[in-house]
Amino acid sequence: MATKMYAKGLFCNCIILFLLAPSLTKAQNTHLIKIELDKPIAKVQPNMWGVFFEDINFGADGGIYAELIKNRSFEFTKPLMGWSIVRAKPQEGEVLVVNRKDVNSANPRYLQIKKLTDDFELVNEGFKGIGVKKGVRYDFSVLYHQVQPGVAMVLQLIDGDKKVIGQGTFNPKESGTNWFKQSVSFVATETNPKAKFSILFQGKGKIDLDMISLFPTDTWKNRPQGLRADMVQLLADMKPGFIRFPGGCIVEGTDLANRYQWKNTIGPIEDRKMIINRWNMEFAHRPAPDYFQSFGLGFFEYFQLAEDIGSDALPILNCGMACQFNSGEVVALDELEPYVQDALDLIEFANGDVSTKWGKKRADLGHPKPFNLKMLGVGNENWGPQYMERVSIFKNAIKAKYPNIKLIYSSGTDPEGDRFNLLNNYLRNEKADFIDEHYYRSADWFLKNAGRYDNYPRNDTKIFVGEYAVHADKSLTGKDKNNWQSALASASLMTGLERNADVVQMASYAPLFAHVDAWQWAPDMIWVDNLKSYGTPDYYVQKLFSTNKGTDVVSATLDNKNIIGQNGLYASSVLDNTKKELIIKITNNAEQSQNIDFYLEGKINLKQKGSIEELSHSNLNQQNSFENPLAVSPQKSVVNLKGKSLKVELNPYSFNVIKIRFK
Ligand code: AHR
Repeated sequence: MATKMYAKGLFCNCIILFLLAPSLTKAQNTHLIKIELDKPIAKVQPNMWGVFFEDINFGADGGIYAELIKNRSFEFTKPLMGWSIVRAKPQEGEVLVVNRKDVNSANPRYLQIKKLTDDFELVNEGFKGIGVKKGVRYDFSVLYHQVQPGVAMVLQLIDGDKKVIGQGTFNPKESGTNWFKQSVSFVATETNPKAKFSILFQGKGKIDLDMISLFPTDTWKNRPQGLRADMVQLLADMKPGFIRFPGGCIVEGTDLANRYQWKNTIGPIEDRKMIINRWNMEFAHRPAPDYFQSFGLGFFEYFQLAEDIGSDALPILNCGMACQFNSGEVVALDELEPYVQDALDLIEFANGDVSTKWGKKRADLGHPKPFNLKMLGVGNENWGPQYMERVSIFKNAIKAKYPNIKLIYSSGTDPEGDRFNLLNNYLRNEKADFIDEHYYRSADWFLKNAGRYDNYPRNDTKIFVGEYAVHADKSLTGKDKNNWQSALASASLMTGLERNADVVQMASYAPLFAHVDAWQWAPDMIWVDNLKSYGTPDYYVQKLFSTNKGTDVVSATLDNKNIIGQNGLYASSVLDNTKKELIIKITNNAEQSQNIDFYLEGKINLKQKGSIEELSHSNLNQQNSFENPLAVSPQKSVVNLKGKSLKVELNPYSFNVIKIRFK
C-alpha cells in the first residue's frame, strides 16, 4: 500500500514537474525593449562611479597600508600590545616604556632597552600575523638614540615552527643624544601568511627605540613604505571616478578628541599623532582592541592614490560633531572656527600655489603640482538642527573663498524618515550642491527602489549615493556576507542610478575592504588576508558599471515605461560618444531565462556584431572566496544584430552588459 501511494505520488509529481519544467528553466515570451539612440536624456559624469575608503575592517592599518609591525611607536593604549618579550631570566628595568610627552606630544612613547646580561628577544605579532613572500626584500627601519653603545640587533622573520624565514643584522652606527633613523634590508626565504618578527638583542649597552618598522618592497609602484600593490590594483582595475576618504564614521570619531584631523596625517610619519580607531570598540560582538590609526596612510597618500588611479579625490571632513551614535558631542558654535579653517586649509593644501602656506607644504612633500580638488564633504552621517547650524557656517566660509568647490552634505544615516526629510528639505532650500544618501538595506528594498530617482526634482541639487550595500537575506547566507543575490540587486538599483545620471551624479558602494581575521562590518566589497585579496560578486558589478559608464544616457523602455522590475527586468542604456559605442545594462532577476528583443531605434548605424559580458549564477547564495575567487565573475561572448534588432536570451539571475560599436 505504501509503495503504491509512493508510486502514485511520484507519478503526480512527475506530471506537475513536466508541466512546470519549461517555465522554470526556459524563456517563454519575448520582451520588446526599445532603446532610443537619438534621444540622450542625461549626461553621465566622468566621475559617476567611485569607491568609498574607510579605515574599517583593518582597511588601512593592517590592510592597504603595507606596514607589517603592529604598534610600531608604542602608542596603543597598552604600550606593548602586539609585542612580547622572550627571554630566559628577565631582569627588572631592562625593557622600559618611556614617556616624553612634554617634548613630543605627537609621539610621546619610546622603548628603552638596557642590555645587561642574557640575550633576549622582542617579538611582534603583526596585524593578525605578518604576510611574508619568498624572494621579496623587506626594509626594516627604526628611530634610535644610543647613549651607551654596544647593543646589536638580529632581525628575524619566523614561522609558526620558529623557523627563520628571513634574517638581517642591525648595528646602530650613530651614538649620542640625537635620534637617528637607520635601515637595513633582507630577503625572505619562504612564503608565510602568519609569520612573526623578532628582534634578538645581543651585547651590552643602552639604546632607545621608536618607530620600529618593517615594510615589503613590492608595494604599489614600489614606493618605499607604501601601499599593498594587490589591493591598489583591484581598485585601479575598477577605474573609479573618485575616491571618497577617510570615512565613514572615523571622520566623526566617538568623541571630538578622536575625530579625524587631516593636518595630523601629513609629514614625517613619526610626527603623525596616532589615535584609537573608532571601530576598536564599536561592536561588542566584534571587539578589536588592537585597532588604532597610525595615519601612515594620511591625506597626502590619499591624494596621491587618487591621482595614481585616475580618480577625483573626495575628502570628507568633520563638521564639529562626533558620532551621534556614540558621544554625540558637538563643538560650541563659537568654537567652530578651527574646524572651518581646516577645510579652507585643506583646499589650499590640495590646490594652492606653492607660494601659499599649505600649497608649499604639499610641494615640500613632493607634489608641487596641485591635486585639483573639486569637491569636499562636510560631515559624514550627521543629522538634526545642530548639523544644519554647522553646515551653514561651513558653507558660507568655503563658498566665499572657493565658490567652485562643490560641497557635499549628509542626509543622515537613512534614506527616509524624519531625520532624512528635515535635512533633505533644508539642504534643497539652501541649494546644496550635493546631498549624500546612504542605504544599507535588503535586496528587496533595492529592487523596489530602482525607480527611486525617476521622480526626484531636476534642479541644481544633485545626489551622491555615498554609501550603499545590499545586506543579503541571512537565511540564504547564514552570515552577513554578500553573495550573488546582493550583487544582482545592487546592479538592478544601479540601472536606476544610471538612468537618472542627471540627478545622481556620483555613487560608491560601502565598505570597501575587509580583513578576514579582523573585520567589524560586513558585507564588504573586497576581502583580504595578509597576502591575498579577492573581489566579491559586488566588486564585479561595480567594476562593470564603472568601466562601462558611457557619456550619455539614452532611453530604454518596455511598453514605453522605464524598466524597473517588469518580469524581474531592470535596465538602463548609455552611449559612449568617445569610444563610439552603445552600452546596455540589464538584469534578469527571474529564476527563468528571458528572451529580449532590443529594438535599437535611431539614426546611429551600429555594427552587426557586439559583445555581452554576463555575471550570473543559478545559486543566489553563491559567494566568491579565496579558494574560488572567480565563482561569480564576468563571462564574455558575442551577440549578433539583424539591422536594428538584437535578440538575446538572458540567463536566470543574470546581470548583462551588452556593447555594440557604432559603424
Ligand atoms: O560603511 C560603514 C559605516 O556605515 C560608515 O562608517 C558609516 O558612514 C556608515 O554608518
